[in-house]
Amino acid sequence: RHALPAAIAGISTLALASTSLSAVAAQTITVGHTTSDNSHYSAGVDAFAAKLDELSDGEFVVAEHPSGALGGERAMIEGLQIGTIDMVVSSTGPLGNFVPETYVLDLPFLFKDYDQARCVLDGEVGQALLDKIDQHDLVGLAWSENGFRHLTNSLRDVKTPEDAAGLKIRTMENEMHMAAFRELDVHPTPMAFPELFTALQQGTVDGQENPISVILTGNLWEVQDHLSLTGHVYSPAIMLASPVLWDGLSDEEKGWFREAAHAGAEATRAMVSRLETEGVAELKEKGMTVVEDIDKSAFQEAVEPSYKVYTDEYGSEMLDRIRHSD
Ligand code: PAF
Repeated sequence: RHALPAAIAGISTLALASTSLSAVAAQTITVGHTTSDNSHYSAGVDAFAAKLDELSDGEFVVAEHPSGALGGERAMIEGLQIGTIDMVVSSTGPLGNFVPETYVLDLPFLFKDYDQARCVLDGEVGQALLDKIDQHDLVGLAWSENGFRHLTNSLRDVKTPEDAAGLKIRTMENEMHMAAFRELDVHPTPMAFPELFTALQQGTVDGQENPISVILTGNLWEVQDHLSLTGHVYSPAIMLASPVLWDGLSDEEKGWFREAAHAGAEATRAMVSRLETEGVAELKEKGMTVVEDIDKSAFQEAVEPSYKVYTDEYGSEMLDRIRHSD
């Protein structure tokens, strides 16, 4: 009489044990980024999380920390190196401070359009740079995207380098960007992104430069009236992992992370492309004055000497490889 219930009890104990085993086994991956939870980076983290869940059958759960909740990009990259954060989506802005070889990507007017930039990053040059990153206590999983950066300010329409001269502009903590802005007689003020909104609001700086997605989803239009579609530099992003996380993964799990990171990067790029046009229309509706007929060749000529800052320090090999890669 008791044989059947005992067997059932045995089965349910087994089922319970395996449920709690998988619950215990699920590992939470902390992913930080500085843009908001409706941004291009967030779209990428969502796609990454979904793919990782699918590939690992729920072994990994992603906890996203957007809006600089874990700090600015530079601080988060330090967190990766010591293992206090598992993963970060970051622009290459502060990356050169850790991996100088990546400075090349932040030279002004280097990439002519999205297709060329994506092709270079997904090709041999991108892989060579990922390999360099891996030599600096960081793991580069996939090239993602921030987008072409455009100038905004609170004082005037900017169409030419002369219009920009004298403005106090927040830049990323990147030597190449600062060198380029100095050539424009702009006062570059490096600052972590989480401090930017307040700095613009309080007039500590007159302007900033970022891709459309950031200007829109970071609500910068609330504190900036003038947008100039300068597209002065392509800003790559990257999905980075901590070596502390990485060293604890099996080869199969590492493969899942890389595949999921590529899915994340694709989702981010798709949103950047969409907002490059739709976002400008939305910013106009929100009251920004948009200057579209920029004298780009004058800007390009003005910032050209900043290339020497790069080549004097790092040579021209990587630069030539990029220039000859299309
Ligand atoms: O301006 C920056 O610091 C970056 O573009 C941002 C907004 C943090 C995205 O990577």
